[in-house]
Amino acid sequence: MRGIYIHIPFCKQKCYYCDFISFAQNGDIIEKYINALIKEIKKTLKSQDKIDTIYIGGGTPSIIDSKYIKEILQEIYNIVGYDEKREVTIEINPGTLNKEKIEDYKIAKINRVSLGLQSTNNKLLKNIGRIHTYEQFIEAYTLVKQSGFNNINIDLMLGLPNQTLYDLKDSLNQVINLNPTHISVYSLILETGTKLEELINKKELKLPSEDMERQMYWKAKELLEKNGYIHYEISNFAKKGYESKHNTNCWKQEEYYGFGVASHSYINNMRYCNTENLEEYIMNIENDNYNKIKQINEIQTKENKMQEYMLLSLRTLDGVKIQEYKSKFQENPLYIYKDKIEKLTKMKLLEVDGDNIRLTNKGLDFANQVWEEFV
Ligand SMILES: C[S@@+](CC[C@H](N)C(=O)[O-])C[C@H]1O[C@@H](n2cnc3c(N)ncnc32)[C@H](O)[C@@H]1O
Ligand code: SF4
Repeated sequence: MRGIYIHIPFCKQKCYYCDFISFAQNGDIIEKYINALIKEIKKTLKSQDKIDTIYIGGGTPSIIDSKYIKEILQEIYNIVGYDEKREVTIEINPGTLNKEKIEDYKIAKINRVSLGLQSTNNKLLKNIGRIHTYEQFIEAYTLVKQSGFNNINIDLMLGLPNQTLYDLKDSLNQVINLNPTHISVYSLILETGTKLEELINKKELKLPSEDMERQMYWKAKELLEKNGYIHYEISNFAKKGYESKHNTNCWKQEEYYGFGVASHSYINNMRYCNTENLEEYIMNIENDNYNKIKQINEIQTKENKMQEYMLLSLRTLDGVKIQEYKSKFQENPLYIYKDKIEKLTKMKLLEVDGDNIRLTNKGLDFANQVWEEFV
């Protein structure tokens, strides 16, 4: 089984914290980009590919005319067929949705939507450069529900500038009341070169302390678990059976194609990435120079693959399932990584619990330290 990731690199306005690859939209370039993207898909995807998830992310996929989303998905269905069991997700920025778009997504057989909210506090949203208010988010959420979608994720963020524990609880309670099937709660990463970094350096905005950020994380976990959401990955919570298949496959080291500028692929033990340059991507595809858009990042040996599997699994709350590891690699991780596991266990960051090697509660707070051991 393989997944498909499609990158739509356009946003109305750059949020101050974000360093994802996205550009201001303009009609002409969008049309050219979609043509190139469809050409890349037709060139790469094979009718014998078994595809179990499709994820349209960005940028802001919901900013472009929804006819393009229908066209892209139709091309994929033409090649690999339509399968009702497949998870098909689109990311939506609430400031860009309307009735026609959401109805088109339904026609295109999308069955999961992911809405970026970040906070329900309008002042905080403004501080981070979001283009929408909480009220506009509610309008978008209502449209999504009315169109019959029942598998819905909402993205929230914690550790935002000027955010208090009260703000976070308030956001969580309001979102929980909406009863989505999935909630992601991301700890803010202050990326270099972003406008947010500049505002913090100029002391125009202030981040909560590290201690407060951790309190927020544990409050989010407590509130979400109390309300029936299973904590299954460091930043992800879902109602039973609604874990994101696309992300879960990535953490299980399954293969996926990435299509579009700046997208990543993992096929035949190789990790590739596409150029981040929009003009270069379009021009090379127009001229049939497909090899010029891709760069191989890694050709994995068995050792690389085993180590990466540890790293990916230790993002999830189930951790490494020892039996699964043994049947995948015919090796025992407890033996291969004896020294690392002993060290991290002594530091109380990891535990060997039944058939799993997993993060402890302390490990959740210091997950980066654990992952670094397996990079
Ligand atoms: C591609 S965006 C989601 C769709 C749409 N572009 C939007 O923002 O509404 C993916 C999510 O990543 C998270 N994110 C982006 N930059 C981040 C950062 N620097 N730190 C933590 N989370 C971040 C946000 O929660 C955002 O909703
Ligand atoms: S968070 Fe979403 S809308 Fe904001 S800049 Fe990043 S990709 Fe665009």
